[in-house]
Amino acid sequence: MVLILFLFLLGCEKHDNRNNDTEVQSNTESFKPNEQQQVEETIKIGFAMDTLTEERWLKDRDFFRMSVEELGAEVEIMASHGDDALQIWQAETMISKGIDLLVIVPHNAESTAAIVEKAHSAGIKVLSYDRLVKNAEVDMYLSYDNEQVGALQAQAILEIVPKGRYVYIGGAETDNNAHMAKKGVFEVLQPHIDKGDITVVFDQWTKDWEPANAKENIELALKANNNNIDAVIAANDATAGAVIEVLESRGLAGEIPVAGQDADLAAIQRIIKGTQTMTIYKPIKELTDLAAELAIKLAKDEDVGEIRDVVKINNGQMEVPSILLSPTTVTQTNIEETIIADDFHTRNEIYLQKDKSD
Ligand code: BGC
Repeated sequence: MVLILFLFLLGCEKHDNRNNDTEVQSNTESFKPNEQQQVEETIKIGFAMDTLTEERWLKDRDFFRMSVEELGAEVEIMASHGDDALQIWQAETMISKGIDLLVIVPHNAESTAAIVEKAHSAGIKVLSYDRLVKNAEVDMYLSYDNEQVGALQAQAILEIVPKGRYVYIGGAETDNNAHMAKKGVFEVLQPHIDKGDITVVFDQWTKDWEPANAKENIELALKANNNNIDAVIAANDATAGAVIEVLESRGLAGEIPVAGQDADLAAIQRIIKGTQTMTIYKPIKELTDLAAELAIKLAKDEDVGEIRDVVKINNGQMEVPSILLSPTTVTQTNIEETIIADDFHTRNEIYLQKDKSD
């Protein structure tokens, strides 16, 4: 009798142990299948950002969190502020914490290829966000049409300055977007350069997109040309702002058309004031909504082809399946129906804060 009782109790304990183990290890096996079926594991996304300096990246960060959470997933966000080694370390940290998918804004298009390899060896797919990772097996790329960004800038400035001496203040050479935008600018300018109507008298990258470096560039450009320049195309609003500061200090602001990109609040205010000619508007919420949807589909190994038109973009190693959203030109004439209509900046932010800063 004692032996039978002992064996019975031993059986119960083993049974309990196995039950506990399965609960800890996975949600797929259970003694209550109906309840368990409803508990789907929450998808965890890692968002490895670069800089948060430009205003747009704060929108990217906050809207992406919102977009992911609206779809019932979780996101961890880290920013490396222009430090390549830190960006690799942050991505590795998120990979080791068990994210299901990595979304990355590469600081350096080339060195982040190492991150893609690391993610893949852990079975995690990578979505290249806004900027393309070069020479790596990227699973998907989502951005705006960056060549179109440059083309729109050049078209807007050409309308005002069809003949003259142009300065090009590029973005960071380490950022593929800077190359795409420059390509777009020069494709539009080339026929006018060939005709002899346009001369590009200065053309330099801006290290790390830093306004201080853009300031140095425009000072060099003005010095080398005895202030004899007719137009400036700057790769974004932060660099355009630096250019305009220097022009202002020489009494040239408003005299020389300047193009930028991002629709920063300060840029919209400069456009109203007349010191900046145009900017490029890229609706960030549209990008983060799409990124969140793609990230979750990729994490679940689902087909993304139905969401939008997928094009192929070569990153030096492969044709990356990509989705490119359309940028829009903003000048004094359409701030209302673009920036304000979309609540990208409110009328109050634009006009009240502008009056304070004037
Ligand atoms: C983005 C711009 C941004 C710049 C600097 C680029 O890759 O396309 O919108 O201003 O990076 O952060």
